[in-house]
Amino acid sequence: PEIGCLSIIVLGASGDLAKKKTFPALFHLYCQGFLPPNEVHIFGYARTKISDDELRNRIRGYLVSERSASPSKDVSKFLQLIKYVSGSYDAAEGFQMLDKEISKHETSKNSLEGSSRRLFYLALPPSVYPSVCRMIRRYSMNKSNLGGWTRIVVEKPFGRDLGSAEELSSQIGELFDEPQIYRIDHYLGKELVQNLLVLRFANRFFLPLWNRDNIDNVQIVFREDFGTEGRGGYFDEYGIIRDIIQNHLLQVLCLVAMEKPVSLKPEHIRDEKVKVLQSVLPIKDEEVVLGQYEGYRDDPTVPDHSNTPTFATVVLRIHNERWEGVPFILKAGKALNSRKAEIRVQFKDVPGDIFKCKKQGRNEFVIRLQPSEAMYMKLMVKQPGLEMSTVQSELDLSYRQRYQGVTIPEAYERLILDTIRGDQQHFVRRDELKAAWEIFTPLLHRIDNGEMKPIPYQAGSRGPAEADELLEKAGYVQTHGYIWIPPTL
Ligand code: BG6
Repeated sequence: PEIGCLSIIVLGASGDLAKKKTFPALFHLYCQGFLPPNEVHIFGYARTKISDDELRNRIRGYLVSERSASPSKDVSKFLQLIKYVSGSYDAAEGFQMLDKEISKHETSKNSLEGSSRRLFYLALPPSVYPSVCRMIRRYSMNKSNLGGWTRIVVEKPFGRDLGSAEELSSQIGELFDEPQIYRIDHYLGKELVQNLLVLRFANRFFLPLWNRDNIDNVQIVFREDFGTEGRGGYFDEYGIIRDIIQNHLLQVLCLVAMEKPVSLKPEHIRDEKVKVLQSVLPIKDEEVVLGQYEGYRDDPTVPDHSNTPTFATVVLRIHNERWEGVPFILKAGKALNSRKAEIRVQFKDVPGDIFKCKKQGRNEFVIRLQPSEAMYMKLMVKQPGLEMSTVQSELDLSYRQRYQGVTIPEAYERLILDTIRGDQQHFVRRDELKAAWEIFTPLLHRIDNGEMKPIPYQAGSRGPAEADELLEKAGYVQTHGYIWIPPTL
């Protein structure tokens, strides 16, 4: 491992993302010893003129969660590592000042001899990415005489469509090389998403089954039981497809559908992801259902005639040898009746069924990403007892029960650690982003032009009934009268 001074600079330090995600993730890494105080310095940067202590006070309340009942001693020690620098996002001054502050530590006697490592976390709206990157490039790069590196971390929205995303990519690409750019999709930091490669490629069970001969359809579902309250303004500009489907769910699809990579090297994995994205056929209008919950437009920051979907079901078809004919149904919605994210792989019916159990439901393999992380297989068994009848049951690997006492790390925590270690496996490569936009841009343009309209649905419902009809048409057979209940301890 590299040693030497590590500076983590959080730009947009007083914003929501920084307070809710970035600083708490850094704090958890600190508590687990990944950010040794004699090596690491954290800087907050934003426009507001406040003191170090004011920034610390703003962050403090977000650090202590249920999970980390950390003593306040830790909180205070961590906060002491943070310094604040104020400045604008497009002028030399602030970034020169920042550079001076960072350099102080890198050359001070206290810091370990070695490299100058600078991690810039852009917790900022993408509109300022180009100017901020330019400023970093000119004024705040690592000192080459000390070695080390400079990396930047950015998060969606990366543009609004193929054209704007490519423009943003080339603006950043002129300033930084691909190995310096870490595009976060926080779904790639979730435990059960990271588990997908292991599941698929380390288990003999799945190898022969994972294809069009056995799998009837795949659903990747995201549901939230709350609306866009408080961020309607942002959301209305983007909508559910840009907010969830084009990134989070599509990334999951890649890992479910891709071929086996040559090795676990980040480039090998990302090569396979790009390949599968490029095999996705154009989306058909009749395989899309859009919805908007009633009450969405009551938000004062949402225009009265907004055409933005808060719900969408989209069927993707992968044109390759493994998947031809298998619908991948991506479904996401806000203000629904439950909160969960899962992958549901439904198998075909058993041929020559002698039990006449078809009505009871099909085999399914479900990966519950959240909450209550689990994997379970729905399968037929003999109903225990004197009669010979069948019943659906499950083999259940529920994490809370199986891994008692193990804390599952937060996605951001893991991903930030990866950026420090220089591992890009769980980050989105430029060509991957482009391929993702290519899939959704035509549909998004049709929605933006008002050519496709969302169907109203009741907040707290399952979403528009048309979505269930589409699912059925795509081949999904819902199991009635069966609910998986996460085991309690
Ligand atoms: C974000 C979206 O990327 O993901 C939000 O912008 C959404 O709209 C969130 O609520 C969901 O993340 P998680 O980790 O809670 O599933």
